[in-house]
Amino acid sequence: MKRELYEEQQARKKRQGELSDLIKSTHEDIREKGWEAGTAQNPEHLLKYASAMKTLATEMWQTSRHHDDRILWALECTGQFYREGGLVKVLEKNIRREKYAKDGVLPSPESVCAARGDTLDVCQGRRIRLLDVGSCFNPVKTHPLTSALQIEPCAIDLCPAPESISDVETMDWLKSDQVEKFRGSMDVVLMSLVLSYIPTPVLRFRALQHALRSLRYYGLLLLVHTRTQGPRSGEWITEWESVLTSLGCVRYVRQIKRHVVCQAFIKMVPDTEEFARAWDRETLAGVCAKLKITADSK
Ligand SMILES: C[S@@+](CC[C@H](N)C(=O)[O-])C[C@H]1O[C@@H](n2cnc3c(N)ncnc32)[C@H](O)[C@@H]1O
Repeated sequence: MKRELYEEQQARKKRQGELSDLIKSTHEDIREKGWEAGTAQNPEHLLKYASAMKTLATEMWQTSRHHDDRILWALECTGQFYREGGLVKVLEKNIRREKYAKDGVLPSPESVCAARGDTLDVCQGRRIRLLDVGSCFNPVKTHPLTSALQIEPCAIDLCPAPESISDVETMDWLKSDQVEKFRGSMDVVLMSLVLSYIPTPVLRFRALQHALRSLRYYGLLLLVHTRTQGPRSGEWITEWESVLTSLGCVRYVRQIKRHVVCQAFIKMVPDTEEFARAWDRETLAGVCAKLKITADSK
């Protein structure tokens, strides 16, 4: 019996290793050959990648507890922000900081929003629109917290897992014309384990710009990365945060778990052409170079 169990564990380990290798080799291939010529343009390989990703996430990570539950974190963070007063608290804190410096009179978050030409929308009485970018198999849809928190998930991927084709829209997040339809409409944009798939800092920056464009004013951007994405010292986490700050976001949460780093940011700028131009200037100013990952220098 012991022997059977041992053999089963070994077979499982081997399978997990094979799946992880396929994921890693896909990332390397894109990095080496470039986005257009690499695997991203090879539908057959992309499908294999998507299936491997789904099996790892649903069968290996869940049961082996080798991976922190990133989807649970994303949903809890969304619930805290919209259903438990997180957004209002952040606004009040900002008002206190800004206003005391001027005249000591504290306006309400509602009146500050009104003065900016916006309404304070905490999704009361309506569903929270959450866009899962690089979703693969739409794990948000089936999570029990999604219906409990009244979240309306929407999922896109360059190549959805074969069984999830009807749940996940096929779309390249780096193509501005494809992403434009979401503009300013989302309450939450989630990018879980996606940015390290994208091969260069400039393209990662573009992916973040597209995420911010899709969010409404005061929307929530959720990022999940593997801890091994950057050096062990973790300085890259602060660097990445500085990029988001330069794009007009305020950090809401930073959580470093055993295997993943979770970051939440609030979009604190309106969705105007002026800001989009400012974001492009930041690209030119080289801010995007901070979005490095260890694999870039291999
Ligand atoms: C490592 S998987 C993560 C899947 C899922 N988010 C999770 O946390 O389990 C990365 C996903 O990002 C998708 N992806 C990468 N580049 C993309 C792009 N330009 N547009 C849309 N999806 C992309 C891949 O197809 C892949 O399904």
